[in-house]
Amino acid sequence: ERKNSKGRNLMDRTQYEPLMAALEERNSHKYAAASIVAGMEVGGEPVDVTNPANTAEVVGTAREAREEDLEAAAVRAKAAQKDWDRLGGTERAKILRAMGDAIEAERDTFADLLVREAGKTLSDVIAEVREAVDFCRYYAARAEEQFGAPIDLPGPTGEKNQLHLSGRGTFLCIAPWNFPLAIFVGQVAAALAAGNAVIAKPAEQTPLVAWHAVKLFHKAGVPADVLHLVLGDGVKVAAPLVADERVSGVAFTGSTETAKIINRTLADRDGAIAPLIAETGGQNAMIVDSTALPEQVSDDVIQSAFGSAGQRCSALRVLFVQDSVADKVINMLKGALKERVIGDPAKLTTDIGPIIDAEALKGLQDHCAKMEKEAKLVAKADMEPEAENGTFLAPHIFELDGLHQLEHENFGPILHVIRFKAAEMDEVLRQIGDTGYGLTFGVHSRLEGRWKDLFEKTNIGNTYINRNMVGAVVGVQPFGGEGLSGTGPKAGGPHYLLRFAAEHTLTINT
Ligand code: SER
Repeated sequence: ERKNSKGRNLMDRTQYEPLMAALEERNSHKYAAASIVAGMEVGGEPVDVTNPANTAEVVGTAREAREEDLEAAAVRAKAAQKDWDRLGGTERAKILRAMGDAIEAERDTFADLLVREAGKTLSDVIAEVREAVDFCRYYAARAEEQFGAPIDLPGPTGEKNQLHLSGRGTFLCIAPWNFPLAIFVGQVAAALAAGNAVIAKPAEQTPLVAWHAVKLFHKAGVPADVLHLVLGDGVKVAAPLVADERVSGVAFTGSTETAKIINRTLADRDGAIAPLIAETGGQNAMIVDSTALPEQVSDDVIQSAFGSAGQRCSALRVLFVQDSVADKVINMLKGALKERVIGDPAKLTTDIGPIIDAEALKGLQDHCAKMEKEAKLVAKADMEPEAENGTFLAPHIFELDGLHQLEHENFGPILHVIRFKAAEMDEVLRQIGDTGYGLTFGVHSRLEGRWKDLFEKTNIGNTYINRNMVGAVVGVQPFGGEGLSGTGPKAGGPHYLLRFAAEHTLTINT
């Protein structure tokens, strides 16, 4: 029998044993990543990449793109894009399927990278590799369907009309560190599927995963000039490309502030009007009414607020709970939080891993210090001794009077609880609406009329009833928000590729 430090039985995790063995084999490997332009590894001096769970451990090095690398990527991408577009959706789909298979085959290497470079727990790793594969296969299917052949349109006798979809040119894809494989691969696969060349800029915290993924894209058949990888800091590497007229569109996942800066830069630059596809943050809420099942609420809240150390844009930040069940729910949450193991994500026993880096940790610690003064601390979890070695934050639960006490999203394992009375439901909705965000929303209620009403009255991308509110599945819960949370379209949904495309009509007098 296997138990964790809290005495919980872990027999349900035996399926992870093959993965554990694979990680054991790799755990001292050092990766040497570089920017990749026209298939060549390029960049400046190697910079160390460290493990957030053990900051003394160097996982590998990365060579950041220099000015001349950005220039070469822009030139080569522009020259190669038309041929890639003319290959057609059916042929591009074959390459994306090969990429899906390649990621699946390299699961163990990606797992090692996701654990040691991004601090992901084993269950998160499995889900993330799965999601990356799903994105490749889903966009491959949409490429075939939507970009395989032109759509015939009506017209008078003697005239043939067609609508053709094609790539817009070169897309700049800027990915975040929190899903360094799935979101990175998803953006790139979508832009490629629609017939674009791509310059991919992963988060500076997670260059190694991206570098490994780009090498696989090339092996799977994406021409070297069609996909380039530029590593490094956003201001140095992404900003000049956003301002570059040769970039025809930008797909970005990250903060609302950065999305707005990108949008302004695109609007102000010379040349064509270029679109931005942005997926940003949320001040995501869940409403629990008096008819909810407290045990289920507790499970779903713990998973939504503290899973992945709260570093998901979908994560629950604010729990509104009706006063008649509030004490019961809060007590259960306190008990459940005590059971979580917070420590080294490479261990089978760990539930919650580290914060991505010291800067992010500092921001969260400052928020906790502020909340300790301005709100009531309800619970704070214990951490394993090894947490000393990395950038960890103990999960916190605070009780607040109202949502006005929060200024912005706090991207970590911090849950804010607000009690409300039955008559205050409209006030709760007003508070949620006033945040301006619209990414995810949860409701726990057994009253169908209640949750339908709440769903219809809110403007939020993804609503989840009587379950957790994280882990959107490709093609099942197309993901993305509105307002301060993003521009749409939804990743992993049927309309995503269309926003990466231009539409051309062709009229033939026959
Ligand atoms: N798509 C992810 C989720 O649904 C991102 O945050 O949790």
